[in-house]
Amino acid sequence: MSDDLIIRSLELAVANAGDITPAVYKKYFARCQDSKALMIHVDELVRGKMMDEVYRLVMVEDYGEEDGYLNWEVDNHEMAYSVKPHMYESLFSALIETICESLGDEWNADYAAAWKQRSDRLRHEIVRRFSEAV
Ligand code: HEM
Repeated sequence: MSDDLIIRSLELAVANAGDITPAVYKKYFARCQDSKALMIHVDELVRGKMMDEVYRLVMVEDYGEEDGYLNWEVDNHEMAYSVKPHMYESLFSALIETICESLGDEWNADYAAAWKQRSDRLRHEIVRRFSEAV
């Protein structure tokens, strides 16, 4: 098991619950109707590929190395799909809630703090790249 709390919690979530992606989307759409409307026609394969990138990004410690990818991803999502900043926040909240539920009694304050810090940083990196100030 990894020493990194984000990676370890993802490993535990998969060990306990298997593929958590459907649960993440279920929580995401329950929490954000705008995102549900935007993604309703996006098939499972593409939804899966999108979450693969989200899992990869939350495991990154230094977002300086992701500068080019984040520029492209945020611009593409904003321009092509009209994704709004609050939709990222809902997505990360749904992910954290899913991990928390998958860990059950194994979830603790250290995991909660690590996830808050990592998702806040990633969200900051994303929101500051939007073309309109938010
Ligand atoms: C860090 C967060 C995100 C990452 C890394 C990400 C990544 C991706 C990737 C890689 C794809 C393309 C998948 C493929 O076709 O191979 C995709 C598609 C898409 N994403 Fe995201 N995404 C993120 C957040 C969001 C959010 C918050 C929304 C809002 C609802 C969203 C909406 C969409 C939509 C509508 C598509 C289009 C699929 C299509 O019609 O082809 N994404 N995303």
